[in-house]
Amino acid sequence: MDSISQIKQVLNIVDVVGSYVSLKKSGRNYKGLCPFHTDHNPSFMVSQELQIYKCFVCNDGGDIFKFVQKIEGIDFSTALEQLAERAGVKLEKTDFDPLTQTKKKIVLINELTAKFYHYLLVEHASGKVGLEYLKNQRGLKDETIKDWQLGFAPDTFDTLKRFLLKHGYTEQELLESGVISQSYNGTIDKFRGRIIFPFTGIDGKILGFNGRTIFNKDPKYLNTAETPVFHKSSFIYGLDKARVNIKKEGVVLVEGQMDVISAHQGGICNVVAATGTALTEGQLTLLSRYTTEITFCFDSDSAGSAAVYRAVDMAEKMNFNIKVSIIPKPYKDLDELVKNDLVHAKDTFNNAMPAYDFFLLDALKKNDKHTALGKKVIIDELTPLFSKLSNVVLLEHYAKKVANELDLAEETVLSLFKKTTTTPPSFESRSDDRFKEEAHNIAKIDYKTHPEGYLIALLFKANIDIQRDIAYKLHAEDFENSVLLSIYNSYLEYLQKDTKSFNIKSVEKSLSDEEKELVEELYLWDLDGRFDLENTEKLASELESTLKRIKKDAAKTTLKELTEKIKLAELGNDFEQVEKLSKKVERLKKLLI
Ligand code: GTP
Ligand code: MN
Repeated sequence: MDSISQIKQVLNIVDVVGSYVSLKKSGRNYKGLCPFHTDHNPSFMVSQELQIYKCFVCNDGGDIFKFVQKIEGIDFSTALEQLAERAGVKLEKTDFDPLTQTKKKIVLINELTAKFYHYLLVEHASGKVGLEYLKNQRGLKDETIKDWQLGFAPDTFDTLKRFLLKHGYTEQELLESGVISQSYNGTIDKFRGRIIFPFTGIDGKILGFNGRTIFNKDPKYLNTAETPVFHKSSFIYGLDKARVNIKKEGVVLVEGQMDVISAHQGGICNVVAATGTALTEGQLTLLSRYTTEITFCFDSDSAGSAAVYRAVDMAEKMNFNIKVSIIPKPYKDLDELVKNDLVHAKDTFNNAMPAYDFFLLDALKKNDKHTALGKKVIIDELTPLFSKLSNVVLLEHYAKKVANELDLAEETVLSLFKKTTTTPPSFESRSDDRFKEEAHNIAKIDYKTHPEGYLIALLFKANIDIQRDIAYKLHAEDFENSVLLSIYNSYLEYLQKDTKSFNIKSVEKSLSDEEKELVEELYLWDLDGRFDLENTEKLASELESTLKRIKKDAAKTTLKELTEKIKLAELGNDFEQVEKLSKKVERLKKLLI
């Protein structure tokens, strides 16, 4: 047996998930609040029999590996290692790919580097200048320096290189990890004369570094280049420390890592930064695992730049609720604000404004609203932004606000904002992922709200005797959905076997992947927890009435068809046929009463 199956045999998904999410038994399954979106009603289901989880709102689902990967933000091989250790399963050599070995080595080099630089900063004479800078000029406490494992890289060419070579690493490995770099006459330390900020991943591993010069050298900040473990476009500084708070309070995104550290030192602990790059979609995806509430905090000099609009636009497409807060003058950035006026800093976030108010404020700041031309420019700037508002109440609210500011008629503004509101293009022409997902969801919900689907979901909750009792009463002609019918046929075959208790895994055996996915969904469907296995009577009566409803629906469809046929027969003066069909209609009508 391969390692994956071995691990799955030892570990129970209910325990693994249960160590992150509080789960409650609900019928044959377990349920809880989904850790992957802000869940107010438990929509997250876990099945012991199938060893899978599924969230009925964000539609995420899978096995233990997928779960651990997602919740820890780690790749498959790391999840495999973690779970193997937990299960006490020894991994084979073939379980590791060569890249994993390289990655491991880089992380080891990074960790040793971070330790070394931290030691130099806090204990060694060569780091004194750095320590004084951080404590006196940047106001950091010893504890903060330790928490963030800040370090100091002396202004020499090969202090780190010599240290790491002595520890048995090769020059090639050091180059690969990015802590040294190629120079015209050999390799030298990448960071020289800089304060070192280790870049820690959410699993606590050090992935790379950032160094700030203390000697006014260019560039002010220097990043580790891309390595097999460090990808700047999907890295968020501070997330390892902030993620618990982010889940509770939403995230505040700032510009620099000193801002992050100062905020945390001041007790604002949901702050992170996208360092060394303009905000990317990958970074937002990472954040969306923790929250849907995002506040962009911009330095007063950069607020209003194209990058800000780009960031807001991107976050909006990803369904974040966006607020914007701007650092009040005379402070340059959050770092300065926190140090000079912590109370005000906290207020800044509490009073962050919705993105649309920010757009308006920014347009008013940049243009003269008292002149005709100024008004035109403001409207031109705002129209494409505000016409995205699909909610009528919001649209009217902002139209009124803009009209007041510019002293224009509300109807004029509203009609401008409305005119450019584009109707959403058809399914085919929209290719972005979010739209595909929506279409997918509609398809699924349709299945579920379908009474046949509901009946199957109910049957899966019942004991096998009740299942046999009801199941045979439903016939092929009662089905409108062909996938459900095909599932049902396999299910009936299963019921015909002489099994004493219901086993969903056996039902699944003869199904296609598509059918399997739907069956798992039906099996995990919580039905509000109303139908406990213990509550047999309630369940049986719900089954009976659902069955009746389906029969009724089927009869109605037949009735419609018959009426059409009668009309045709009347047109053709085929009275014999009319009478025959009418009798059938009578019988059906009686059934429907
Ligand atoms: P301090 O001057 O130390 O307070 O830094 P700051 O955070 O206020 O710096 P600034 O507003 O100039 O830059 C914000 C962030 O952009 C920094 O934290 C860096 O992550 C990044 N950054 C700034 N300058 C550079 C640079 O020259 N190169 C790179 N790669 N990133 C930079
Ligand atoms: Mn600063």
